Amino acid sequence: MIDIQKIRADFPILNQQVNGKPLVYFDNGATAQKPLVVIDAIEKYYKEINANIHRGVHTLSQLATDAYEVSRNAIQKHVNAKHNHEIIFTAGTTFGINLVANGFAALLKEGDEVMVSHLEHHSNIVPWQLLCERTGAKLVVIPMNDKGELNLEEFEKLLSDNVKVVAVNHISNALGTVNPIKEIIKKAHKVGAAVLIDGAQAAPHLKPDVQDLDCDFYAFSGHKVCGPTGIGVLYGKEEWLRKLPPYQGGGEMIAEVTFEKTTYADLPHKFEAGTPNIAGGIVLGTAIDYLNEVGFDNIAVYEQELLDYATEKLLQIEGLRIYGTSEHKASVISFNIEGIHPYDIGTIVDKLGVAVRTGHHCAQPIMQYFNIPGTIRASFAFYNTKEEIDIFVEAVKKAKTMLS
Ligand code: ALA
Repeated sequence: MIDIQKIRADFPILNQQVNGKPLVYFDNGATAQKPLVVIDAIEKYYKEINANIHRGVHTLSQLATDAYEVSRNAIQKHVNAKHNHEIIFTAGTTFGINLVANGFAALLKEGDEVMVSHLEHHSNIVPWQLLCERTGAKLVVIPMNDKGELNLEEFEKLLSDNVKVVAVNHISNALGTVNPIKEIIKKAHKVGAAVLIDGAQAAPHLKPDVQDLDCDFYAFSGHKVCGPTGIGVLYGKEEWLRKLPPYQGGGEMIAEVTFEKTTYADLPHKFEAGTPNIAGGIVLGTAIDYLNEVGFDNIAVYEQELLDYATEKLLQIEGLRIYGTSEHKASVISFNIEGIHPYDIGTIVDKLGVAVRTGHHCAQPIMQYFNIPGTIRASFAFYNTKEEIDIFVEAVKKAKTMLS
């Protein structure tokens, strides 16, 4: 069970006024707020053990290296990866996807196909388009339906031996749809394609089990799981990480450098060139530990309650349409009110203390599908409350009245 008073006390930022009103933070899909343990861990790192890692014999360097690797192990356990060297620290989901897409340039040729879905964030479309431009491979798109779900029958029809990579999100950032990725992975593997899962929106809501899913890559960001910005994780199956060339060259990713030839370090260092975000890596482990203490089962139950409550309340507003009506949804509601631009609603509810995201949510193909410029997106976290939803719904009603 979620003890909401106790949890909210962990997040000092929530206890403030914005524009003279109590803050209602419903932009968790963009970034999550940080609990005190995370804020304290950042301070502790810089106050007590700041040093470069994997480089020095001195004590601070050892302490920082140990803390960084302890965090890698915590993440390995969290996603149930077979080996800790399958956990690559990145700058975030976008970095992880670009790392993989870039690596596939060495493996693809003209006539090969790369499959993405209509539900993707731009960061799981554009890197693959760049890959296709470089290699002559073709980008193929899994279509969606009016509920914001992927059309799996069409997906099966599109699968062939030409498909080398399938890249789909676990949860859509714009609509909240939870995609049946286990099924997608299984089918893609039958034609020999590698599967990358964009887990940016899923990681805050559930604990991915990469061995059970059998995905080849799973990428997520630290800042969406209550950790700092500028740190993320790419899980890759060992065999794939060995096949892909390094993404960046530099210090720490080498075994030996001569002017004639350079050999690369073993995993995971092959993909971790340069001084990394050391504090971010360490503190990401703290954030993951915090979420596991709250409990992902508790988070799922509580967020479903918030989603159901908000959906019911919002649908009572005349002219309001929700985009993304799958039965399998995370706590994300994207909507518009007939005849009103989403930015106008967003601006007015902000004046009433409510933070939501408005626009195309970096998912323009979804907006093109519905023929809309964008939506208002409320995305809830386990520290939000029904009382906040009441304030939000009243703010939307007020905005509607002002703008009609
Ligand atoms: N990808 C983030 C979002 O959906 C920023 O808002």
